[in-house]
Amino acid sequence: MYKILSKITLVPTLHEFVIEAPRVAKRCKAGQFIILRIHEEGERIPLTIADFDREKGTITIVFQEVGKSTKQLATLNAGDSMLDFVGPLGEASHIDNYGTVVCVAGGVGIAPVFPIARALKEAGNEVIGIMGCRCKDLIFWEDRMKDACTELRVTTDDGSYVCKGFVTDKLLDLINERGKENIAEVIAIGPVPMMRAVANLTREYGIKTIVSLNSTMVDGTGMCGCCRVTVGGEVKFACVDGPEFDAHAVDFEEMMRRGRIYKEEEQKSLEKYTN
Ligand code: FES
Repeated sequence: MYKILSKITLVPTLHEFVIEAPRVAKRCKAGQFIILRIHEEGERIPLTIADFDREKGTITIVFQEVGKSTKQLATLNAGDSMLDFVGPLGEASHIDNYGTVVCVAGGVGIAPVFPIARALKEAGNEVIGIMGCRCKDLIFWEDRMKDACTELRVTTDDGSYVCKGFVTDKLLDLINERGKENIAEVIAIGPVPMMRAVANLTREYGIKTIVSLNSTMVDGTGMCGCCRVTVGGEVKFACVDGPEFDAHAVDFEEMMRRGRIYKEEEQKSLEKYTN
């Protein structure tokens, strides 16, 4: 069993758990993920690792309540335990000294971007963070991101905090300020339409861009095919080939179509759980 050491509700329906999982913490690297299961009959929930502490043997996860399983997960508190906590899974982020790197985080994507930005800064990069949420109430981990980045720019869709605009507006400003040749790489994590918008923008400027794909997963070991995505015309499994891929080669339309396949079942399951 894996014990929850602390629980913080960051914004309504968004929670941070610190889990006691020393074997995962010992081996994990930025960009990897875990799959958890609350109990024997629970659905497998894949979550990108938001932070880790090797000495304390802990893993931090951040999740949003969207369906039955994540709502059920949110009912757990510090001191409770979960049955499975498998990881680290997937390939770690490629960390090197590239020069200037832009880490773009949208909504709950702020959590998985954080350890990548920190690792890139530790590797000697200038890390410019851009984080955006729909509104002020949904902003979280701004202080952590400030520490992890050399410079942080924040935006909200509705302008209720710092300034109004999308992360792509901030990214375009930055490209214009710095010049495309002075940005070595962009890493974008967030909702699929956001990652697609970032990819479309940077493709125009020829800036290498990496996205982390949160496809639906079952086994997380490349066996079931559930997480398949098309990248550069080839079938890839996000759980073992990813979760990070070249954003300019990802078929986002197909990914969004596949993401909607289980919508009806998910809705029914949620209704049954909440009624
Ligand atoms: Fe089954 Fe990736 S989750 S192949």
